[in-house]
Amino acid sequence: MNRTERRAAQKNVSSAAGGSMASDLLQRAVAAANGGDLPAATVLLKKALTLEPNFALACDRLAFFYLAQGKRDKASAQYAELARIAPQTLNQFDVVLETLKRLQPDFAATLAGNAPADSKGGLDRIAADPYFRAVLENTVVRDLAFERWLTALRGTFIEMAIAEAPKASGDIVAFAAALARQCWINEYVFALSAPERAAIDRLRRLIEGALASGAPVEPFRAAVLATVEPLHALAEADKLTQRKWPSAVDAVVTQQVREPAEEAALRATLPRLTPIGDGVSEKVRAQYEENPYPRWARLSAPPPPMVLDDLIRHQFPVTPFRPLGKRDSLDILVAGCGTGRIALEITQSFAGARTLAVDLSLASLSAAKRKTPAALRDKIEFAQGDIMSIGSIGRDFDYINAGGVLHHMGDPLGGWRQLIKLMRPNALMQVGLYSAHARKEINEARKLVAERGYPATAEGIRQARQKLFARPTHFNFMTLRDFFSTSEVRDLIFHVHEQQFTIPEIADFIAANDLNFIGFEFADQAFHQHHRAEFQRHGWSPSDLTRWDAYERANPDIFANMYVFWVQKR
Ligand SMILES: C[S@@+](CC[C@H](N)C(=O)[O-])C[C@H]1O[C@@H](n2cnc3c(N)ncnc32)[C@H](O)[C@@H]1O
Repeated sequence: MNRTERRAAQKNVSSAAGGSMASDLLQRAVAAANGGDLPAATVLLKKALTLEPNFALACDRLAFFYLAQGKRDKASAQYAELARIAPQTLNQFDVVLETLKRLQPDFAATLAGNAPADSKGGLDRIAADPYFRAVLENTVVRDLAFERWLTALRGTFIEMAIAEAPKASGDIVAFAAALARQCWINEYVFALSAPERAAIDRLRRLIEGALASGAPVEPFRAAVLATVEPLHALAEADKLTQRKWPSAVDAVVTQQVREPAEEAALRATLPRLTPIGDGVSEKVRAQYEENPYPRWARLSAPPPPMVLDDLIRHQFPVTPFRPLGKRDSLDILVAGCGTGRIALEITQSFAGARTLAVDLSLASLSAAKRKTPAALRDKIEFAQGDIMSIGSIGRDFDYINAGGVLHHMGDPLGGWRQLIKLMRPNALMQVGLYSAHARKEINEARKLVAERGYPATAEGIRQARQKLFARPTHFNFMTLRDFFSTSEVRDLIFHVHEQQFTIPEIADFIAANDLNFIGFEFADQAFHQHHRAEFQRHGWSPSDLTRWDAYERANPDIFANMYVFWVQKR
């Protein structure tokens, strides 16, 4: 857990009944651990969790103290529980990977080479590890060595699955199912060899034959097929939903057959807010119908409700802004909401939030709608619309989020102006735009894709990605967060339309459109604090865009993700 998550976890529990007792127990446990008495710390934390089962920080510490005592099975179960109650802890993938290595020394020992194919290499132990499975099921694996380890293991599973009578223990079946769920959320981005493709074709024919004739299907075979292609693509796939499966395989059938069917049914329920322009909007819509962005598994746990004024004050303590004064209600527009993760997280974060989330792509919107937790259903509406025409919908908002969307429009500044029309006085807007400086290397990759003619298909994306990993360049694609799933890579280097910006262009637009610049935001809080401290040290104003332009030229990668910034309507 990072510091922010710890603080949120702490606040969560303090506000709940019995929370202060649980917090007390946590403090005593930490003191006991500092004094070297881990068993006493463990007892105290267990008590805290009896009082407050969702106390993420206590859960995290208990897992950590088990691990420190060499009790790896207990530690893994506790980390799996942490992943359940605080899925956001899975976002810090470097920390997750370190934990997996400590939990499974055989994994750590083989990570640089091939995955173990049998129990001697610890595969049975790894397959039975609940945290390992929780990681595969709930977050994209964002590490190349780990990805290759899993790809090699999948190769072994494919060979096992086409054997005459495949032999796999219950844990191996469950592990293959967890791997299938991983491959679904990364949209089959792992490299696939020609012999593996041929074996999978055979496996598919076997399973389709069994579904047609009513013969049994080995759960292991179904799971392994689902590590390479989605089960809903099978002929008569719905028959899978009527069979009995071990629970881990049933979860794959849910993910890959039942949920896509639900989403298909939801498409018809989505209101159309504006017409979709032809030209760029139509081309962009087609891309996101094929690859809704991003595919995600679990929403963060809801934090204690925030007030937008407080968030701005906290993020930008020295920048003047006019408080909105909205403590109990907040009307929000998420423009270009994609598959809804950000729209849902925003909605659950702000006190009294009521959100309209708009996108071009019905596939993205129906995924977002299906994933909306019951507690948020009355607070958020999803609708299809084109930002280019949104200025006329006759509604207005306190807060508009437009992250990673305007730069995919034919006329980004025209789209931005449409959104400004919907801002109430003093309303705030959070914008994410590509930086021309930061994307120089990405542009090289885009050039490579165009020159070599890789198609924007799953196979084309897999090949281009492997090529880029192998290419000697000072720019490290492996460090890019958005390089570990198909829709991310498509978005990053295969996009049908993108424009890039510089800070002076943004500054000119802000000045011409009655906005005040509040500040840049960095997803990583440590970076955010670092850049803020740098500005403070030099006595620069953090809202001085001329200064930021010079700062970016000196540090050209700082906006590698995007420019993400807040503006306020004058
Ligand atoms: C890169 S995704 C970003 C999704 C989301 N904002 C996020 O950050 O996760 C861009 C999204 O913007 C949507 N989009 C692009 N142009 C749009 C337009 N003219 N009107 C509405 N949505 C648009 C796309 O369909 C896509 O879902």
